[in-house]
Amino acid sequence: MEKLVMLELLRSYYAGKKVFLTGHTGFKGTWMMALLHQLGAEVKGYALAPEDSAPFHNLFSGLNVQSVIADIRNRKQLTEEIASFQPDYVFHLAAQPLVLLSYEIPSETFEVNVVGTANVLEAARQLEKRCNIIVITTDKVYDNKEHHGLYKEEDRLGGYDPYSASKACTELVVDSFRNSFFNVKDILIHRKALASARAGNVIGGGDFSRNRIIPDAAKALLQGKEILVRNPGSVRPWQHVLEPVCGYLLLGTKMTDDPVSFSQAFNFGPQPEDHLTVKELVELAIKTWGSGKMEVSSNGAAMHEANLLKLDISKAAEQLSWKPQLSAPQAIEWSMDWYKTPVEQQAEFTFTQIDNYLRK
Ligand SMILES: NC(=O)c1ccc[n+]([C@@H]2O[C@H](COP(=O)([O-])OP(=O)(O)OC[C@H]3O[C@@H](n4cnc5c(N)ncnc54)[C@H](O)[C@@H]3O)[C@@H](O)[C@H]2O)c1
Repeated sequence: MEKLVMLELLRSYYAGKKVFLTGHTGFKGTWMMALLHQLGAEVKGYALAPEDSAPFHNLFSGLNVQSVIADIRNRKQLTEEIASFQPDYVFHLAAQPLVLLSYEIPSETFEVNVVGTANVLEAARQLEKRCNIIVITTDKVYDNKEHHGLYKEEDRLGGYDPYSASKACTELVVDSFRNSFFNVKDILIHRKALASARAGNVIGGGDFSRNRIIPDAAKALLQGKEILVRNPGSVRPWQHVLEPVCGYLLLGTKMTDDPVSFSQAFNFGPQPEDHLTVKELVELAIKTWGSGKMEVSSNGAAMHEANLLKLDISKAAEQLSWKPQLSAPQAIEWSMDWYKTPVEQQAEFTFTQIDNYLRK
């Protein structure tokens, strides 16, 4: 699909539509909010306040977006906010998304990710109108055997660490709601389409999370320090944040046209050649930056983290006509270019990258 067609296609579905976006203060949510704004959608966000250490969202405080700062576990408030907005689309991104933090706060991770999703779906269930709901999970939902094969949507779910397990549970919640309340055979009664989207690790400007390699690398490079790497040999699918975000939006358009066929799970990941080791990724980041050094951290293996995980993206390619537009080296270049941009120009640069992506 030509990119200009993509821009026009997304505009034709989202301009003037009401989009309820959870997690709009986070890394992916802020990109999605900016993109939806550019498409002419009316956005209402629901999330916790952005952390002081993660100033990306605040760059866009001037946008005309309704922002509710509240906890996803507050079912009453969440239900009221969804009911008063009457969305056409719900994109559920709010989560505790960090593997290492999930070892520190496992119960909270399950509460936010699993019960939080049930709260969103229960609130959406009370809408007496058509609505497409897309729940964002992760590639880590698969029972990871650390083999070199590619994971397909029908593969067994699982999760070693609390974060991965919580997201696998999230998929079960989605499946249960799809069977029990949003069953496609009753689509004319409930008028809800429900899908989940499983993306791999994403990179891009604006991510200030702890223990994620590109933010860590950018911070170290800006400060002239060595980049500490935990698991240099881990192979992960790396892609620019705009790839899955556009994939989620594309999935939403398909659900509008054919809610029965597209109420399913979809993988969004890079091409097989863009599965790089952490070491390769950091080397590319240093090359793009023009200077810098890497050091392997001695406490790398303290907590179990999956080392090898590859996604099969043929279903999204065939059914959604979605495919990644940027190679891993390009995604790294786009990310490092963003971090090099002076703070006062970062919002504008984000819109420029969105525009370039949609027209690429
Ligand atoms: N970043 C990645 O590489 C990646 C990869 C795969 C999947 N994901 C998924 O994408 C989604 C967004 O991730 P991200 O990288 O933007 O994370 P992030 O940490 O930057 O943002 C998380 C968002 O969730 C909100 N949130 C957290 N706890 C909440 C609560 N109790 N109540 C209300 N809101 C709450 C935060 O306020 C924030 O807006 C998550 O569901 C994550 O699991 C991310």
